[in-house]
Amino acid sequence: MDFILDTNIIYENSKDFDIFLKSAAKTIANGGLVVFPTETVYGLGANALDASACEKIFLAKGRPSDNPLIVHVSSIDMAMEIVLGAGEDFFKLADAFWPGPISFILNKNDKIPDRVSAGLDTVAVRMPNNKTALKLIEFSGLPIAAPSANISGRPSPTRSEHVIFDLDTRVDCIICSDKFPIGVESTVLDLSGDKPIILRPGAVSRSMIEGVLGTNVEVYTHSDEKTSNEEAPRSPGLKYRHYSPSAKVFSTDVEQDEASLERFAEEHGVSRDKLIYIQYDDDSKMARDLFADFRDADLKGFKIILIKPAEGGELLDANLNRLNRAIV
Ligand code: TXA
Ligand code: MG
Repeated sequence: MDFILDTNIIYENSKDFDIFLKSAAKTIANGGLVVFPTETVYGLGANALDASACEKIFLAKGRPSDNPLIVHVSSIDMAMEIVLGAGEDFFKLADAFWPGPISFILNKNDKIPDRVSAGLDTVAVRMPNNKTALKLIEFSGLPIAAPSANISGRPSPTRSEHVIFDLDTRVDCIICSDKFPIGVESTVLDLSGDKPIILRPGAVSRSMIEGVLGTNVEVYTHSDEKTSNEEAPRSPGLKYRHYSPSAKVFSTDVEQDEASLERFAEEHGVSRDKLIYIQYDDDSKMARDLFADFRDADLKGFKIILIKPAEGGELLDANLNRLNRAIV
């Protein structure tokens, strides 16, 4: 498929931004695609109630069709309109963390097309903590299905230049922000089964969720996915290669000096100037910059990215999850 749309690029800090935002909301209502900022990463949005609009998301991203989309809402009421109901855990957690970087998997009702849930009986719902995203949803009066706004397989976009690079001419509108988002996608928490399970770690950490629920919460691991081939995967997205730059990514626990970097490059068959070493000293900066650094390294032609991750902090699990999935 050729993509030759005349993409309308708009800026959050422009005068009359609300007027542009209202026209972006109309684009959503008319079945178009709008890229918008959230507090985690940029999203590629379409009307979540319109199967053919959502089909365009899969085409624009080159997304495997069995990978379901997260539906963004601007209120708990809007979430309730698309699910079969929710238990006490949902209300406690939504009260604590919404709007914010956590998506809840709930049993969906018939308003959500199979195209959005990729045939599952469940839907992921999230209320983003970003003014522009919330207004876009409110102005359109619709829940908005939105995966991360990258071409499938590439790192999620955390800067406006990333979405323009990936999606210009493939979508109707791109809304650019000059703020740095958290930089890793939302926590995905499955509340559709007997007990809550974290499918993807994010800025709302396991201990934060446990603090609200007062119970232990399991984390679903990538290796569970690999060993349970007979069963349908719990979270289809987990089986795909993600977040990957073209350069090969490695990690190290110890600080590297120049001599060891030269040795590392030589051992991996590249010259020293094709290896970039990045050390993150704190978890928020690592989350904020990791995907942007992957993309920069590719643009600059590095062949190897060697990373020393930040060691602690609330974002530790989310950071290591993204790093490890770029390494495989
Ligand atoms: O922070 C975020 O969540 C961003 C912003 C744009 O909101 N969105 C995002 O969407 O990261 P995406 O599509 O890149 O990742 C969604 C993940 C995928 O791994 C997908 O498989 C999983 O959530 N997912 C969505 N619906 C699901 C469902 N019903 N059951 C299990 N997993 C689901
Ligand atoms: Mg994604």
